[in-house]
Amino acid sequence: MESPERPLVKALLKFKEADSVSFHVPGHKGGMLSSLPTELRSMLRYDFTELAGLDDLHEPDGVIKEAQQKLSSFYGSDHSFFLVNGSTVGNLAMIYATCGAGDTIIVQRNAHKSVFHAIELTGAKPVLVSAGLDRLTKTAGVMTVEQIGEALEAYPNAKAVVITHPTYYGTTGTDLEKTIGLCHTYGVPVLVDEAHGAHFVIGDPFPRSALDMGADVVVHSAHKTLPAMTMASFLHVRSNLVSYERVAHYLQMLQSSSPSYILMASLDDARAYVESYREEDKALFMERRSVFIERLTMIPRIQTVRVDDPLKLIIRLEGYSGFELQRVLEAEGIYAELADPYQVLFVLPLLKVESDYPFEEISRKIESAIAQLDHADRTWSSIEVPSLDEETSCLTYTAGQLTTMETEWVPYEVAAGRVAAGSIIPYPPGIPLLIGGEKIRDKHIQSLMKLLQMGAKFQGSIRMNDEQIVVVKEEVEE
Ligand SMILES: Cc1ncc(COP(=O)(O)O)c(C=O)c1O
Repeated sequence: MESPERPLVKALLKFKEADSVSFHVPGHKGGMLSSLPTELRSMLRYDFTELAGLDDLHEPDGVIKEAQQKLSSFYGSDHSFFLVNGSTVGNLAMIYATCGAGDTIIVQRNAHKSVFHAIELTGAKPVLVSAGLDRLTKTAGVMTVEQIGEALEAYPNAKAVVITHPTYYGTTGTDLEKTIGLCHTYGVPVLVDEAHGAHFVIGDPFPRSALDMGADVVVHSAHKTLPAMTMASFLHVRSNLVSYERVAHYLQMLQSSSPSYILMASLDDARAYVESYREEDKALFMERRSVFIERLTMIPRIQTVRVDDPLKLIIRLEGYSGFELQRVLEAEGIYAELADPYQVLFVLPLLKVESDYPFEEISRKIESAIAQLDHADRTWSSIEVPSLDEETSCLTYTAGQLTTMETEWVPYEVAAGRVAAGSIIPYPPGIPLLIGGEKIRDKHIQSLMKLLQMGAKFQGSIRMNDEQIVVVKEEVEE
């Protein structure tokens, strides 16, 4: 098979070869004024701006248009966009394009913080649907069609439903297509944060893509699972309910007027990579993965968990928390995507026949790291973090209301029963434990304390040194 064309990559190479004189931005002048180490500096020779022949992301009619059309036709969308600020900006734009202040939006509770930031910025009112606990990964899973049905019945005028598919841990569930169909019978568009599923387009044994199942807008962090640079992402629209012009309008406002050509070229390249992914590549990937899993499973006390997406792999070590396992692995130079109380999560490489990965050496390193542990010292023989499995709920106060309310910092122990004045977000994965405006329950506090005790990292409205969080001063009735 011939390699798919990469119009933007080609244009950058051509421009660089012309050896032009730069009296334009960026100020590093093709790297000449940069004091970055040589390897980094060499990349700056391709760090162009909107010059003749290089098109303009915000008004594309040349190579960027061509590259985005190739993306769209490969993914089967009506319109696809390159994003230079991650799925974060994709989530912001899709919510801005569908919701305004006071509009109801139905949202999966375990969504990424960017979804909640979009809701805060637009002033939309979220109806939070709590995905039940996924027993396999011991994390919040996916919503069922019944849950969405109930939410739609209660809020038939909702302006959008926001779904995370798959979860960070690679769980997809089985209800997405039915859920999308149901939302469409209400005339409600489905916005899918498929940040972790840019590779689903490859097909079996990978899960089905939300675009294929009829979603209106789908966002992909190409940088998470495809060979694209960090921040490089895609947004696809295929809808009678969402106007792609509105999405383009908000992307123009929310993204830089000087988007990085290196990032955009890496998106063009990532699309070509996945477009040329063949059956032989899948077979090789699955084979290498199975051998790796088998080797890991032979290591005493190690347990592996396979999830819906074969690119994700969970590793557990009996008697240890995921945070402890993460530290042990890092001491051997092995960095997992994230750790939680129970496990670490690996994102495997989407290998092709011609590529390789040192899986054998990695499994040997893992084995030797674990052999060095003194198991008499193990600290977390039984770990239990309360599940946040809850009913569908609304915030007590919207972000807009919070801005005018008096707040105070209080010790964790006395915060239950109050309303959180800001979000508290374990990071990674970036899914809020508490959303600003949400009523704080005992189990939020128990989870928070347990996670802190285990070494989880947090972002948001928390003072870890003083062991305090910020709450609304006024107390609410039970
Ligand atoms: C589910 C989900 N959505 C969105 C994002 C944001 O993606 P990005 O880092 O590409 O901005 C993340 C990041 O981890 C994520 O996990």
